[in-house]
Amino acid sequence: GLEIIKSQIIAAIMLIQLAAVSLHSRVHPCVFISAGGICIAQSLKIPHEHKPSDFDKIIRQLLDTRYARTVVLFASDEDIRGILNASKRADQVGHFLWIGSDSWGSKNSPIHQLEDAAVGAITILPKRATISGFDAYFMSRTLENNRRNVWFAEYWEENFNCKLMSSSKKDDSSRKCTGQERIGVDSKYEQEGKVQFVIDAVYAMAHALHNMQRDLCPDVSGICLEMELAGGKKLLKYIRSVSFNGSAGTSVTFNRNGDAPGRYDLFQYQRSNGTGSGYRAVGQWTETLQLNVSLILVLVLTGSWF
Ligand SMILES: *[C@@H]1O[C@H](CO)[C@@H](O)[C@H](O)[C@H]1NC(C)=O
Ligand SMILES: *[C@@H]1O[C@H](CO)[C@@H](O)[C@H](O)[C@H]1NC(C)=O
Ligand SMILES: *[C@@H]1O[C@H](CO)[C@@H](O)[C@H](O)[C@H]1NC(C)=O
Ligand SMILES: *[C@@H]1O[C@H](CO)[C@@H](O)[C@H](O)[C@H]1NC(C)=O
Repeated sequence: GLEIIKSQIIAAIMLIQLAAVSLHSRVHPCVFISAGGICIAQSLKIPHEHKPSDFDKIIRQLLDTRYARTVVLFASDEDIRGILNASKRADQVGHFLWIGSDSWGSKNSPIHQLEDAAVGAITILPKRATISGFDAYFMSRTLENNRRNVWFAEYWEENFNCKLMSSSKKDDSSRKCTGQERIGVDSKYEQEGKVQFVIDAVYAMAHALHNMQRDLCPDVSGICLEMELAGGKKLLKYIRSVSFNGSAGTSVTFNRNGDAPGRYDLFQYQRSNGTGSGYRAVGQWTETLQLNVSLILVLVLTGSWF
């Protein structure tokens, strides 16, 4: 899914950005043509242990193929910052059009204080829903009623910045927890973004085990010998063939490769105009690309094309 979505986004951007380029007759050296028919001019690796000069080198290499303006980044927050910062050092803000993977998403951490270099970037994020039942459950957890989370006490101390009697915390200076603190009341609480997928994954496993049990042990209510001996391969077959409505109401299935259907929101980082964050939802991808072109800021990229 991700590959298709990327090539389609790039294709869409190319249509906007490269209309002028197609008028030129110069042949571009392609490293390879992707499935979407996109010419990939280069593919670079960010070194594991890197210095600012490594990012400077990457920018220099990207500039070697000056007509290739679109850069797809599969990188961590820190590496995205390194690249954006290096593009500033090289005085190349506005030269590149960035496409960010879901690790960039709509986060501020990769672009903080580098916003000017990020303007125009297109990013993707898996569609996610907030599961209200989870909030109701989690916010009602206390030291008394938590029965199964072995890390809960540690979370409590961390979350409320206090110390429990049973604490293994070395620091003597922190204040004592009262035990009356409440999640979401005495601390900020926001649902972690992947809760939906964790719930669905657990249900996928449960549905698979249930279907397997029905097939292999039709006459017993528990696990029979045949199921015990069935093995992981057989279980995997059952997992891959589940189909049910997930926690957010969307269907949960797996394709031939074992991937769930791709469902993404697309964002563009636009120059902030004072009304909050600069990421703007500009489209989505669910089986097909739906791009709201009227919301996309068309960059006038700086410099000459050749
Ligand atoms: C950009 O890089 C320079 C040089 O390495 C560094 O001093 C500066 O803090 C970086 N800026 C940001 C916003 O990360
Ligand atoms: C899933 O939801 C749809 C619409 O909400 C409904 O029509 C369908 O019957 C549900 N499927 C299952 C397996 O519950
Ligand atoms: C500011 O940006 C937001 C979102 O990008 C947009 O809805 C709004 O119209 C903009 N306001 C102005 C004054 O440009
Ligand atoms: C695109 O965005 C505009 C402005 O927000 C909106 O009026 C229009 O309905 C959107 N089109 C689609 C297909 O979402």
